[in-house]
Amino acid sequence: MKEQLLAWYRAHGRDLAWRKTTDPYAILVSEVMLQQTQVERVIPRWQAWLERWPSVESLAAASPAEVIIEWQGLGYNRRAVSLHRTAQHVAANGWPDDLSELPGVGPYTAAAIGNFAFGHDVLPVDTNVRRVQERTGERFDGSCAQALFDLGATICLARIPRCGDCPLAPNCPSRGRRYEPLRKQSKFEGSFRQRRAIALRAVAAGERATDGEALVSLERDGLVVVRDGTATLPS
Ligand code: ADE
Repeated sequence: MKEQLLAWYRAHGRDLAWRKTTDPYAILVSEVMLQQTQVERVIPRWQAWLERWPSVESLAAASPAEVIIEWQGLGYNRRAVSLHRTAQHVAANGWPDDLSELPGVGPYTAAAIGNFAFGHDVLPVDTNVRRVQERTGERFDGSCAQALFDLGATICLARIPRCGDCPLAPNCPSRGRRYEPLRKQSKFEGSFRQRRAIALRAVAAGERATDGEALVSLERDGLVVVRDGTATLPS
């Protein structure tokens, strides 16, 4: 199946800017952004980030407050704090052999950086990749990673896969199947995540945040510092 997949990718793969670099820092930034934010929203933010902080050293030298503000709008703001800590770790010690030692870098992100930056034959398995492997019953190697991201995002969709356009359909045991709605990303409206976002936006704007529970939770994640009842961004 690998040959059909790679031939399809050469013809139909998405032209994404982070696929044109092997700089581990640039790939780290893209993969952390892509963990929970859609590709279309990541593209301009990744460009802007690298213009502002083109290297691990430049990001390491920024203040946490600057990093948190630059991250605004991408969501799941804890990722900004982890990314900054990772930059400081790498600026001081270089890239570790085991990338999952880095803050906020789990097995998926470690595999993605290992593959796209360091050329290791490891497959980063995200939900799209897992779905394609489960449906086809095939185990793909690291050279298939980008093709699997694109097949999962555009053809082998979670609920109603487009098997008519799929290069793997002739050999796919799940061809033609439909799937029940899966759990979606939990609702943002009315959630605690939204309260945290509102409180953090206020703090970042220098306004007074009054949601004590949200502030405690933000402080625990290193996103704010509370002193004498006033929250500020960490300096
Ligand atoms: N999702 C996670 N990593 C990706 C990548 N490198 N390209 C497209 N989608 C992705």
